[in-house]
Amino acid sequence: MAKITTSTLIKMKQQGEKISTITAYDASFAKIFDQAGIHAILIGDSLGMVLQGQDDTIPVSIEDMAYHTQCVKRGVENTLIIGDMPFMSYATTEQAQINAAKLMQAGASMVKMEGGAWLVDTIKSLVERGIPVCAHLGLTPQSVNVFGGFKVQGRDDAQAQQMIKDAQALEVAGAQLLVLECIPAPLGKSISEAISIPTIGIGAGKDTDGQILVMHDALGISCSYMPKFSRNFIKETGDIKKAIELYISEVTKGNFPGEDHIFKS
Ligand code: KIV
Repeated sequence: MAKITTSTLIKMKQQGEKISTITAYDASFAKIFDQAGIHAILIGDSLGMVLQGQDDTIPVSIEDMAYHTQCVKRGVENTLIIGDMPFMSYATTEQAQINAAKLMQAGASMVKMEGGAWLVDTIKSLVERGIPVCAHLGLTPQSVNVFGGFKVQGRDDAQAQQMIKDAQALEVAGAQLLVLECIPAPLGKSISEAISIPTIGIGAGKDTDGQILVMHDALGISCSYMPKFSRNFIKETGDIKKAIELYISEVTKGNFPGEDHIFKS
């Protein structure tokens, strides 16, 4: 497999090929996922929950993220590496520049930030300075306290329309990828059709340009419960590499997510 870049992912969207991505936090898993042919690895701030056992992602620091990005980088040959900017590390454009630089220097090729149109100036400033940005809309877990829990977003029409406008503004600002988390499947489709950068869904239906799963969910090692939008691929294969190969093949064929994994409205 050739080295995956942001251009590879944009070309995949243009050609109607599905993008498969997953989280990883260390070199060993990253190496298996890279060899299985995953297109991008996100070092997600979900590590606060699945590695550290926290209730949410709020306690995660930029030092945590830089450390795990370095670990993943050592296991990867071809996969695109995306580093997640943790809570309040991009509250101002200046903070975003300093902290995004830490993740890029730790080995990321792109950084991810949660939020809508308020991020436009920050994204412009990062892209101008050579830092590619993945945006993130829908259930953005760093705002869990504003949402009053981990709840599906974009269910009413005004919220859905706002999310489409936000996605368009983020693309114009220079974002090259957009994660859509826990939104109704028809909204995932509308946003994916409204922008030309690839959308990567998690609980956003099957019509996004790609999918992402937290590795602990895909491998059935989550501490407590299995989210509705996930599938335990290891149960079906009994082997980590085969599980990820099955995940990629199911995404590519449009078989995952299935009807049971989506929010219809
Ligand atoms: O932190 C994370 O793992 C994420 C994914 C769920 C998209 O943001």
